[in-house]
Amino acid sequence: MAWADRENQAVSGERGGVESFASRVVRWQQRYGRHDLPWQTGGDAYRVWLSEIMLQQTQVATVIPYFTRFIARFPDVRSLAATSEDAVLALWSGLGYYSRARNLHAAARTIVAQHGGRFPDTPQELAVLSGIGRSTAAAIAALAFDRPCAILDGNVKRVLARHAGIEGWPGARGVEMALWRLAETRVPSRNARAYTQGLMDLGAMVCTRRRPACDTCPIETDCVARRTHRVAELPAPRPRRVLPEKSMAMLLLCDRGELMLEKRPPRGIWGGLWSLPEIDPEADARVHCRAHYGYEARSLRALPALNHSFTHFRLKIQPLEIHLASRGTTPAGQLWLAPVDALNAALPAPVRTLLARLADA
Ligand code: ADE
Repeated sequence: MAWADRENQAVSGERGGVESFASRVVRWQQRYGRHDLPWQTGGDAYRVWLSEIMLQQTQVATVIPYFTRFIARFPDVRSLAATSEDAVLALWSGLGYYSRARNLHAAARTIVAQHGGRFPDTPQELAVLSGIGRSTAAAIAALAFDRPCAILDGNVKRVLARHAGIEGWPGARGVEMALWRLAETRVPSRNARAYTQGLMDLGAMVCTRRRPACDTCPIETDCVARRTHRVAELPAPRPRRVLPEKSMAMLLLCDRGELMLEKRPPRGIWGGLWSLPEIDPEADARVHCRAHYGYEARSLRALPALNHSFTHFRLKIQPLEIHLASRGTTPAGQLWLAPVDALNAALPAPVRTLLARLADA
């Protein structure tokens, strides 16, 4: 008998003890969990997949309108595969983390080309698709196909680390491996869909990072963090690191109420997005305008700087507003737009912040 089954039996309600971890989560989900999210339509893998990708790094409330628009435009994997990457990026505009959109589009094409448009239903086949990691593959297999697969997203890491009292930062390799082992032993062989959704819902609604509602938690009675008064300390935060800082200037080239956006190369940072020209902050922006674009600058003004954090470095952006005396024909890969219209394009997050400030001014 598997360890999980033994544990489940040892604490099962029929023996007069506490019910198993999984059955408490399932029962709680059925009664108090979320059932009306627009992707909970009963096993449509395309919708589950799309929602899981959108929900990476993004809250449910933000995702819902994007999800609804996306489904209206691309109701199935074939329609998504048939469109262009630019059309997908435009619909993703504002959600951020655009590599998710590019991977989604690539995976749709693979599903059509290699699986005849039918969604694979095993975590192994799902995990080789672009943008689908181990936890997302398991979430799709569990939520769409009711397969007993362990997930481990940020919320679930928090629930399990607290319940089992696992020390250390969950992003550290050893801690993450311990959490995966635990997640796998806890998956029930039945009701995987409700269990998986239940863990997600518990993490989002009860076992929140700050001020968790332990009094209403179905797994509170044997929660190690609760018993040892360490709910506020677990899971341990990411160790503080001083990130290196890089800096650049971004040029807001303005002419007759419009500003210029440039399409970035398809790969690398902000790949395929519309952005602003970047120069070394020490370089002469007027000279750059003339030499690079053939544009004559009439005025130049430094705007307040902006900071943006990436995983491995921090970026300081010095925006320079430059009004042009003349602009010639617009080459391919450039776009002139009013700031408020530019906000409809797929933009890097700091560029969006900058243009929103201008559109508001
Ligand atoms: N976050 C990630 N997946 C989710 C889901 N299926 N429901 C709610 N929040 C989620």
